[in-house]
Amino acid sequence: MISRSTIDRVFETARIEEVVGDYVVLKKRGGNMLGLCPFHNEKTPSFTVTPTKGIYKCFGCGAAGNAVGFLMAHDQLTYPEAIKQLAVRYQIEIEEDQRAHNDPAYQAEKSQRDRLWDLMAFAQQYYTRVLWDHPSGIAIGLSYFHERGLSDATIHRFGLGYSLEQSSPLLDLATQSSFSPEELELAGLALRSENRGHYDRFRGRVLFPIYHLNGKVIGFGGRTLKTDRKEAKYINSPETPLYRKSESLFGLHQARKAMAAAGFVYLVEGYMDVISISQAGVENVVASSGTALTREQAALIHRFADEVTLIYDGDQAGIKAALRGIDILLENDLKVRVIALPEHEDPDTLARRMQGENLKEFLNSNAQDFMAFQQNLLLKEAGRDPLRISSALQVVAASIACVGDPILRAMYIRHLAEDAGIPDASVQEAVVQQFKLKAKRIPSSSASITPAPPLEAVTKPSDEIRDEPPPSPEIQPLNDIPQETEILRLLLLVGNQTMSNTTGGAPISLIDYMGETLLSLSWDSSSCRALLELCIARWQMEGCLPANHELMNHTDQGISTMATRWYTDNPQISPNWDQMHDITVPPPTDNLTKEIETTFDRLLLKKILRHSRIKQIELQTLQQNPAGLDNPSVLTAIREIQELKEAERRITARTGIVITH
Ligand code: CTP
Ligand code: MN
Repeated sequence: MISRSTIDRVFETARIEEVVGDYVVLKKRGGNMLGLCPFHNEKTPSFTVTPTKGIYKCFGCGAAGNAVGFLMAHDQLTYPEAIKQLAVRYQIEIEEDQRAHNDPAYQAEKSQRDRLWDLMAFAQQYYTRVLWDHPSGIAIGLSYFHERGLSDATIHRFGLGYSLEQSSPLLDLATQSSFSPEELELAGLALRSENRGHYDRFRGRVLFPIYHLNGKVIGFGGRTLKTDRKEAKYINSPETPLYRKSESLFGLHQARKAMAAAGFVYLVEGYMDVISISQAGVENVVASSGTALTREQAALIHRFADEVTLIYDGDQAGIKAALRGIDILLENDLKVRVIALPEHEDPDTLARRMQGENLKEFLNSNAQDFMAFQQNLLLKEAGRDPLRISSALQVVAASIACVGDPILRAMYIRHLAEDAGIPDASVQEAVVQQFKLKAKRIPSSSASITPAPPLEAVTKPSDEIRDEPPPSPEIQPLNDIPQETEILRLLLLVGNQTMSNTTGGAPISLIDYMGETLLSLSWDSSSCRALLELCIARWQMEGCLPANHELMNHTDQGISTMATRWYTDNPQISPNWDQMHDITVPPPTDNLTKEIETTFDRLLLKKILRHSRIKQIELQTLQQNPAGLDNPSVLTAIREIQELKEAERRITARTGIVITH
């Protein structure tokens, strides 16, 4: 357990803009700072950080909280982990009772995931120790890295290591430290065979740790140093609970500051490429580690940079294959440039020839816009053969169809038409066709996919160009979370007050009055519902409501985020502010109790309307069915809709609230 005073110091010291700034590029906007939200996919920034209040808030997806909440949400940390991470960052001494790794209580407490994080750190420390201290590590591993021109500082910076040419040194050591062979297997560090049992996955290889954005190791790439045998050049960690290949990029952890500063990133193929280029003074470089780029990786890049420059080795076959993966970058609204290195050159060899400003200058002057690059390459290849020209055009048109920016798209269409010597309209047609093909491929149910840009911008380039969101689908998934959150805020604030206008009978508290009804609603936010249950239980058992401080430290992250936001947003009327800080706030006014009643009614009304809309759609579907009219469900649905209408009318009559459909 971390002591209260440590937690308080962390809260006092942590600066939200610094904590968030480690992950999100923030630009000053008045007193606030603005960036692209890391919690949802967006093109225009709606993620706001307010340094004076110590909070962040996304106006796009509603994510909000303080520095601790941010780390919890972003890195999937538990509350104590987030506190610890901040304590380390701000050099705050952590007061807690230190227990040994093999203490059974400690083991029971830590979840499997936590133990895997620890195990990966353990392995990485072990492998670096072998590299630096073990005679074979020094003679084989360290000298290999030195031969390849890496400095000690670079080897440290990337946490490189070496695994001995033995069956199970890591396994033996880790099992002595309370980790089980099964855990090593789960973490991808050990393999198991029928007759040998468990043994180390990495043997006799130099190791490149792969880091999560939170700076912890999640996997390894291991390169063999043998040239004579027929064994795989690289062995990589498999997918594990911590390591998801499609969602990680090698070098991102080390590169992100430089990426944010430069606004772009170099994308290369190999581990060594990243490390060499970075050592040569170009630190904004990452690798996809030999696999095709994924949407998640593109989104990850976009958090830190708007542009990607791909560096390809000189051989032509590789380039053409790699070009296919690029549409994913365009679809994620990244600008893409390409550098094709001369033959027999790769980023690693380049970085050994050129450093610092020279290298930067070389890269800068050799980067070409991707679309032009691809177009030239394919058109040149097609020669004068109409069929080949046409298929080259289709490939480029498919890429153009991925571009979200309508102006850029229009320019690409013009260039392609010019270079191929055909009318603009034909290219436009090809792009529209590709749009349609793409739309078919993309499953409409997937919410994470960015909507394709509106077709009109392509088909009628002369029209006013707007980048509007696509027309909303007929039934928007309605979401009551803002109202649900608001009613809980008010409930915590004045739920213990008596109703302002009870007609007859004994005075009744607001929470008693509305608790049961609220519980019976279907809640969109499970955290709101959990908080409501907590409030009701506490009120019934102890006659008070939970204190805000308790809620801020609640293990339900949604609850702690809400409480943190209330606390930081508006301290004057934050729940239980007075209890926490020994200051007197004026008693809640009648206005406030009225406000909660209104909010309550509005929430009720909204739930009723939504329910009734769902029922109506159900009814329509039933009626479209030829056998529908005989279906007893039709009658039930009609009756339910009538009841809901009646409930709506009652609330409207009583309160005067009307929600327009
Ligand atoms: N790769 C892999 N498995 C292989 C070969 C390659 O996972 N059998 C991945 C690695 O991430 C590697 C990248 O593809 O870094 C590029 O491969 P390659 O160019 O062959 O290796 P380099 O990293 O350039 O290694 P080196 O320069 O040491 O030969
Ligand atoms: Mn290489």
